[in-house]
Amino acid sequence: MTPRRRQPARRRTPGLGRGTVLATVPVAVAALLGAGPAGAGTTGAAGAGDPYFPLSGNGGYHVRHYDLTLRYRSGGRLDGTAILTARATQPLTRFDLDLKGLTVGGVTVDRTAASFKRSGQELLVTPRHALRAGQDFRVTVAYHGTPEPVTDPDGSADGWIPTDDGAFVAGEPQGAMTWFPANAHPSDKSSYDFTITVPEGRTAVANGTLLGRRTAKGETTFRWRETEPMAAYLATATIGTFQVRQYTTRDGIRIYDAVDPREAEDAAPVLRQLPSVLEWESKLFGPYPFKSAGSIVDHADVGYALETQTRPLYDSAPDILTLVHESAHQWYGDSVSLTSWKDIWLNEGFATYAEWLYSEQHGGDSAQKTFDALYARPAGDELWAYPPGDPGSGENIFGTPVYDRGAMALHELRKAVGDRTFLRILRGWATEHRDGHGTTTQFERLAERESGTSLNSLFRTWLYTEGKPNKA
Ligand code: TRP
Ligand code: ZN
Repeated sequence: MTPRRRQPARRRTPGLGRGTVLATVPVAVAALLGAGPAGAGTTGAAGAGDPYFPLSGNGGYHVRHYDLTLRYRSGGRLDGTAILTARATQPLTRFDLDLKGLTVGGVTVDRTAASFKRSGQELLVTPRHALRAGQDFRVTVAYHGTPEPVTDPDGSADGWIPTDDGAFVAGEPQGAMTWFPANAHPSDKSSYDFTITVPEGRTAVANGTLLGRRTAKGETTFRWRETEPMAAYLATATIGTFQVRQYTTRDGIRIYDAVDPREAEDAAPVLRQLPSVLEWESKLFGPYPFKSAGSIVDHADVGYALETQTRPLYDSAPDILTLVHESAHQWYGDSVSLTSWKDIWLNEGFATYAEWLYSEQHGGDSAQKTFDALYARPAGDELWAYPPGDPGSGENIFGTPVYDRGAMALHELRKAVGDRTFLRILRGWATEHRDGHGTTTQFERLAERESGTSLNSLFRTWLYTEGKPNKA
């Protein structure tokens, strides 16, 4: 069967073209240089150094833990307190957080009021006392306002997206900053606590395990905890009127499903398969990397799903291959994270290939047949518009070359090394980089080590060469 794409819905909005994006670059570069009165050397960079999203993340520190306390009121207003436990990686007289929109009421560093300034998506914090390299510190940010999504280079919205009964909260690649102050780049991963208060009758679903819920005075507070390291874009605090189902799988994974009643009938037969999908994926990819799982099925016209850690988020009842795709991301993308958005095929190519494998082993088309159907597309097709290993800009990171040609690259690898070695490579990747990061170069090295062959030309052809590759 033809794999169902997530990306068409994300493509386009004419008018928001390349020119618009390029125009912002000089500003970004200036900010990256850390030009400012605090002086170079002790000023944390405004970005993590990502070529596609120069202002995402920040330099000079690592966030170990986020403790987010949010109150959501009908009408959409949010009051938040974020407590970040961080460690300086250089001396800091000033550092940045990412935060877009919203009003900041106050910032403290180690309980002492700090001065702060807003500049675009950067919240510049100057602590009363400079921080030493290696120093642990705690930042508290009080903020409020009505969050708005951010528009990505490809024209789609991400972040806090209001719905008719709450919010659909999906932060890839840059939306985390629309609802909490963060070091919002996947190169920094942290544990999270969430305390979310919503009007009684609504449910707030975040990542990890539900620690408790309490209703008082017409409001319900949900407490969630994710102990495994998580990138900020994978955090959610989706709010709505949901039907909830909780159970534990045979493998001891705690499942929490939240489903909009308008999607319940269509969602039920698919969500029911989550335990068997996770079991099947565990056999291929290695042990499920987290303690909890589940699904959030909202009723929102967003056009895509996201692999929010432990608990993927769908804008409507998913089909089985979408569930397989988002579940595969728990290994590839969530547990093993990117250090740069340029490597996005490590997420999307892998999750797409998981769909192909699932079809192949569940009575659908073989991966070879899926490959052949794609390969048959003419040289002028969008599939060949740019190479998956080097999409060129943030505008291209969720396009069909990344998803489909990325999966084709894995299929070529499988054919070159054989099924057994291929599975050892997939599993080795997830196992060796579990709760960490991985780059394309590291993946190539692992594949060469496991297979004992040089794969340089295969990777060059399928990941880096412009245009439709010739068949080997
Ligand atoms: N990673 C998502 C998927 O493949 C697609 C996606 C990219 C997305 N950016 C997003 C989804 C922002 C929601 C919000 O399933
Ligand atoms: Zn995906």
